[in-house]
Amino acid sequence: MNAPRFEIAVIKGDGIGIDVTDAALAVIDAARHRVGGFDLDCQDLLAGAGYFQETGRDMAPGAEEAAAAADAIFLGAIGLPAVRHADGTEISPHLRLREIFQLYAGVRPVKAYPNVPQRLADPRAAEINLVILRESTEGLFYSAAVHDRSPVENDDEVQDLLRITRATTEKLHDFAFRLAQKRKSRGHKGMVTCVDKANVFRSMAFFRKIFDERAGKFPDVETAYSYVDAQALELIRRPWDFDVLVMENMFGDILSDLAGGLVGGMGMAACAEIGTDHALFQPAHGSAPDIMGEDRANPLAAILSGAMMLDYLADQSGHQPLADAA
Ligand SMILES: NC(=O)c1ccc[n+]([C@@H]2O[C@H](COP(=O)([O-])OP(=O)(O)OC[C@H]3O[C@@H](n4cnc5c(N)ncnc54)[C@H](O)[C@@H]3O)[C@@H](O)[C@H]2O)c1
Repeated sequence: MNAPRFEIAVIKGDGIGIDVTDAALAVIDAARHRVGGFDLDCQDLLAGAGYFQETGRDMAPGAEEAAAAADAIFLGAIGLPAVRHADGTEISPHLRLREIFQLYAGVRPVKAYPNVPQRLADPRAAEINLVILRESTEGLFYSAAVHDRSPVENDDEVQDLLRITRATTEKLHDFAFRLAQKRKSRGHKGMVTCVDKANVFRSMAFFRKIFDERAGKFPDVETAYSYVDAQALELIRRPWDFDVLVMENMFGDILSDLAGGLVGGMGMAACAEIGTDHALFQPAHGSAPDIMGEDRANPLAAILSGAMMLDYLADQSGHQPLADAA
């Protein structure tokens, strides 16, 4: 019988995205060889700021359809600060992919690995092992430039819009609770902290209300709350006390970089973006133009994202060798 075959859409993108993707694919292939029992079919798709400079398009014709048809998408990094649209924003087709494929669950593990220099002097920093779950399709990114949804935009005033919907927030919180259950079965706390600004914004009070509603369905998971400003402080003071942190898109964007800084920097920050029918895996960092072409990029974030991709494919297919390779 032939081994099952999985299609991977690969977007290397710009800058160090290309180097770290090559490194991740080499490691994934080595793991596949060692474990056996499955095949991967990787298809390169052209997209990014470099591609835009050459062609005036941010993705190659047919690339979105190819990504849609794949079992998973792997992305290096997209964007170069010097390449911009007329409105001053950068080339960001990956934000469109989040939108088209409704990749609502941005999973960002933050783990202290042995022998990686720790930023915090407290020895408990070696125990940091948490996950930031960043909602990735709405929140303040709902009116990201690539979507062209700013309610007011002229030369005197610009407004952006923060959108929280029940449908997405229910899925997000359920994802957080299921993740905490899975982590609990592996020896973690089994706790979800709702990070918001419910003291000030109605949208955030709504986010918290739905958190409480969904928590009732997961009685084995502990719950906690924190305001995002206080959470920034607590991530520096006692990051080892947290397990799963669930939050709105922009809050997750900011806190995941902060948390990445606690465990060795962006070169260690892996990321999965998961929707109901599609999933995209990428290091949380960008194209790092300050070091591109210098052979100094840390490929671990991309490699760890590759492991998350294999884990996801294992979950989707029930095929154990993928989990072993992960
Ligand atoms: N998902 C994405 O593709 C994504 C995410 C963030 C930024 N970007 C884009 O990337 C470009 C640069 O953005 P930025 O400078 O704000 O963020 P960045 O993540 O590219 O770089 C921030 C800092 O971290 C360092 N760094 C990042 N990844 C590293 C690695 N693997 N190894 C060692 N050092 C690493 C960089 O050298 C830089 O000093 C911009 O065009 C931005 O829009 C893309």
